[in-house]
This record gives sequence, structure tokens and C-alpha cells, in this order.
Amino acid sequence: MRRDPKTLVVIGAQWGDEGKGKIVDLLAERSDIIVRFQGGNNAGHTLVVGGEKTVLHLVPSGVLHHGKTCVIANGVVVDPLVLLDEIDALRRRGFLARDEDLRISEQVHLILPYHKAIDLARERLRGQGRIGTTGRGIGPAYEDKMARIGIRIVDLLEEDTFREKLSANLEEKNAYLRSILGEDAFAFDGIFESYRTIGERLRPHVADTSRLLDREIRSGKRVLFEGAQGTMLDVDHGTYPFVTSSNCVSGAVFAGSGIAPGLLGRSLGITKAYTTRVGSGPFPTELDGAIGDRLRRDGDEYGATTGRARRCGWFDAVVVRHAVRLSGLDGLAITKLDVLAGLDPLRICVAYRSGESTIDHVPAGTRALARAEPVYEDWPGFGSLSSVGRLEELPANARRYLDRITELTGAPVRIVSVGARREDTIVIDDPFAWAAGAKPGCEPNNLH
Ligand code: IMP
Repeated sequence: MRRDPKTLVVIGAQWGDEGKGKIVDLLAERSDIIVRFQGGNNAGHTLVVGGEKTVLHLVPSGVLHHGKTCVIANGVVVDPLVLLDEIDALRRRGFLARDEDLRISEQVHLILPYHKAIDLARERLRGQGRIGTTGRGIGPAYEDKMARIGIRIVDLLEEDTFREKLSANLEEKNAYLRSILGEDAFAFDGIFESYRTIGERLRPHVADTSRLLDREIRSGKRVLFEGAQGTMLDVDHGTYPFVTSSNCVSGAVFAGSGIAPGLLGRSLGITKAYTTRVGSGPFPTELDGAIGDRLRRDGDEYGATTGRARRCGWFDAVVVRHAVRLSGLDGLAITKLDVLAGLDPLRICVAYRSGESTIDHVPAGTRALARAEPVYEDWPGFGSLSSVGRLEELPANARRYLDRITELTGAPVRIVSVGARREDTIVIDDPFAWAAGAKPGCEPNNLH
């Protein structure tokens, strides 16, 4: 095995929406292969390239660079309708010219219309207790995978297997939809015929991506694994039950793409310079008043997938430290630093107070986290970052703020983003240089 695989995973270090799309897009330029390994079209990456906005839900962000291979690996759940629409839209713009530019694992599980209907109906019935899902059928599709009744794309491509599995599933789902959820049932024929047609259109992309990745990594290719959602939405390590239905930590790369642990080089965490979350669930540093509104407005904090307004709050170092530990993050990319310009003081949550005690980690209990009061440190603010292109041009207070994040989380800041455009990015330390063997330290950056 190669000692230093040139592979890198990018992980969301908060509740998703950290700006991974932009960073992945930047790193994709330096990669040969870009891989999605968990989640589905609950993700939405907004990319601004050449002044044009593109939102991608399933196809890895690397698609906007010609000559790269994009892989949707086995850990992803795929809505074939959404994927086909995305492929068609990309092709109209001149991307994905060759079938081999996009590879889909034979083993991906499909999101079918009944998954979406179940997701939406359950949320409606939960009322106030709803999770705030994206309504895309993600949870119900992963449930079927674990219950061993899921339909994979390889099943869709074998007519008899698809017929058998779909009819067995519909029997159970229709009974559940009708009698428990009070919804309409689905007809077999409509789904069978239309999904067979879609399957045939996707067929040229379907491959054994586990073997493909193994081979390419061992031959020295640069591979970028693109995480979706974020650590606090991880089904095991997040704010359960207000989480998504997959693992979002770096360990998910192995099961989710079928590569061995030794083949992953480095892990980069993405975090905003403040915190946001969509959907329900505890959020200790949430700001309800004017500052929260200001962050939402200046940060344009509205979901790329659902358009929902995001909840906003101060940077929570306890959360990011949790992400650094769980994913072994060797570095951080800090996004949207420019949004904090003009706020003074800037607050960083360094621990939580719960009753008489102070805790420095994320408690597992939903109520315990909901009760946790942030312990803040105040840092002096800074002015506009609009003309900042290099590290030395960052105001001293901005650099101090970044240094403090490194000290509190144990991960050096490698990239800083100060705007939506590709050009508004300061690369302190090229992640692929350390992915290729350079030893990253966890020392503070000493940025000033
Ligand atoms: P689901 O993944 O649609 O089941 O939604 C479960 C939770 O994860 C909800 O709180 C969603 O808002 C959240 N979620 C899912 N995907 C994303 C994402 O890409 N960014 C931010 N939140 C997400």
C-alpha cells in the first residue's frame, strides 16, 4: 500500500451549510476524482463560478471542472429523478460531456416516491415535535437500507429484481401510508415504468466504484471526498434525534465509499466564523435578536435546498472541538469571516454551564444540551474585509480571532474565506501538500 495516499476528506464541523461547496470546488481543481459518500439530495451546495450561481444536490461539486471524475459512492441515497435532472442541466451547460465523468456505485440505495411521502407525512403528524427534515425522503430510504428491504440501483437495472422488490415494498408501504399516516397509496405500474426508463438513462454511469477508487488511489491519483451535512447532524454523534440519517464524520468515508482506512490521507473541517443551523433541535449559541438577524441578512443565511431561514449564533468552539476530535481534523477552513465585519465585540463560546458545573464537551442528552448555557469570551471586532486577498492584509483583530479558534479547537486554520467568489479565499496552507505527506501540526497559526 502507498504510505501517503493523496486523499483528503472535507467534513462539515457544525450543523451543515458551512460553505463546503466553495472549498470543495477550490480543492476539486487540484483533484483527479471527487467523491460523495453519504447523505443525498438533502445537501445543497451553492457555487458561484464566473458570476453564475449553480446549486448541486447530488453530483459532487467537482463537476464544474472539466476532466475530473465525479463519483457517487455506495453510502449515498439517490433520488433518480433529481439526479437525472441535475445531469441534464449540467450537460446543457457543457459539463459531464462523457459518461465516465460521472460514476454511480451499483450499491447506492434509491429514494422512491413513497420515501418522500412518508418523510413529509411523518413531519406533518409530528407537529411541534418535528425534526425539520428537508422532506426529501432521506430518512425513510436509509431505514429501508438498514431493514434490508431497500432497492439499490443495481436492482433497478435488473427488471425482474426490481419488479419483485418494488411490489413487496409497495404492499408494506401502501398499508402504512393508508392506515397509519392517512395518505394515498402508490400504484405499482406508474413507478415501475417510469423508474425503469430512468434506470436505463443512468445505466451508462453505474460502476463498481469501490474497486475503481481503490485502484486509482493506489496509482497515486488525488482523490477528494466531499462530506455532506455536518458533524452535529451525524446520526450517532450529533444532536440526536435532530440529525440526518447518515454518519457525517470522516469515518463514514470507509464504509460509504468502500475504501480501506489506510487509504485516507488527511481530513479538513469546514466551519463558518459563526454558527448556523436549519431545522429543529438544540443550538446553545443561538441569537434570537438583532445580531442573529444581522448575521442572517449579511450571511444570506437561507437554505440552498429548502430556502428556509437558518438559525444564527456565535461561534461555538465546543462544537468544533467535538468535530476535530471525531474526525481527526488536521486543519480547518473558516468561511464567511467577512460577515462578522462591523460587529463588536465578537463572542466565542468556550464551554457550557449547566447548573453548577462547567462542561467542555457536547453532552449526549437532548435536554442537557438544550439547558447548556454558553460561556463566552469577548474579542474585539474588525472592519470590512472586502479588499482582502492575502493573509497579511487581514486586520490584526481578525487574525487574533482565527488564532483563538485554533487554540480552542486544536486544529490550525488552513484556509480563510472572506466572500462568495473563488477569488475571495486565502489559502494559508495547501491541504493537498499535507495530504501528500507533509506533517501538519496542531500548533496555533501565529497568524500575526
Ligand atoms: P433530513 O436529512 O432531510 O432527514 O433532515 C434531518 C435534519 O438535517 C434537518 O434538521 C435538516 O434541516 C438537516 N439537514 C439535512 N441536510 C442538511 C444540509 O445539507 N445542511 C443543513 N442541514 C441539513
